[in-house]
Amino acid sequence: MTLLALETSCDETSVAVVRAGEILSNIVASQIELHAEYGGVVPELAAREHLRNLIPVTQAALRAAGVTVTELDAVAATQGPGLASALMVGFKAAQALAFARRKPFVGIHHHEAHLYSPWISGNPARAHFDEFQPNVSLIVSGGHTMLVHVAAELKHRVLGGTIDDAAGECFDKTGKLMGLPYPAGAEIDRLAEQGNAKAFSFPRPLMNDPNDDFSFSGLKTSVRYFLRDHPGLLDDPPALRDFCASVQAAIVEVLVSKTIRAAKRLGVRCITASGGVTCNRSLRDELAKACGRAGFALCLAEKSLCTDNAAMIGILAERKLLAGAAGPEFDGDIAPGWALA
Ligand code: KG4
Ligand code: ZN
Repeated sequence: MTLLALETSCDETSVAVVRAGEILSNIVASQIELHAEYGGVVPELAAREHLRNLIPVTQAALRAAGVTVTELDAVAATQGPGLASALMVGFKAAQALAFARRKPFVGIHHHEAHLYSPWISGNPARAHFDEFQPNVSLIVSGGHTMLVHVAAELKHRVLGGTIDDAAGECFDKTGKLMGLPYPAGAEIDRLAEQGNAKAFSFPRPLMNDPNDDFSFSGLKTSVRYFLRDHPGLLDDPPALRDFCASVQAAIVEVLVSKTIRAAKRLGVRCITASGGVTCNRSLRDELAKACGRAGFALCLAEKSLCTDNAAMIGILAERKLLAGAAGPEFDGDIAPGWALA
């Protein structure tokens, strides 16, 4: 089955072609620079940019895959969650294409797609879906932080999530207080690399609570007070690196310890992670160390597939269609607030 997938839930316009669990092409047009001057994603601007980019990105994805529109067997798009005005663009375009070509259409849950992105391995441009194992999956991005038990392919249950800010938001808001451009996660990661993570002590919210939930707003507040009380810190490069390493360590320790604990409790043998924050070097290293100590296999999404992309939408859509899933009718609507069950 040759399937075209569209992702426009936030600030990446992405189109992929997949076939038999293989990515034939995956083009991502990021809008990061457009939104940076506003310090966050502006929904109307995102939607306009998707409108502008969708056809050229689709043409590029088809060209890179060596596939014409007439060869497509199915079309998929992100149905939710996400920004309504952004979702509409890709969802309706995909539906219209499927309608015109009289092909099946599948609407995909963005986070369910993240759950399967760690299983896509190899060269990201031509990667395959590997053999799946039951796992506990950590999804960490700018908008979401959640732990999910994936008991079998297409069978999952959310264990917990953030009750306030997402982990990526904590990186971004810390960066904002430091005067860094949005999004700041990658820059804090870079600064933290040569810092001492034990230099300053920041809270590890909910780390020892018995549930699988997260909370990062208290940490953000303590970062704000810390910077207020250390006014010279931003002008002292070594102290700044220590500060970044210390904040990052607090976020990473909470994420790693709660993920490992959930996996032990549920008796799975594998842990996976995806979402933009999974690009973080310390998170990748600390998860690897903790999984090594506890005897879990670790399957991290490729960095290029951690951030939003249409390949993960297509890979899941094809598996759903092959499993007999019926997509929404052609009058089906976007679901901006769709929570993963
Ligand atoms: O998944 P993503 O591209 O978009 C969504 O939010 O859906 O994730 C973006 C988030 C931003 O908060 C960004 O700061 C964070 O991922 N991020 C990182 C790193 N790279 C991206 N956070 C920490 N370390 C990184 N290396
Ligand atoms: Zn995402």
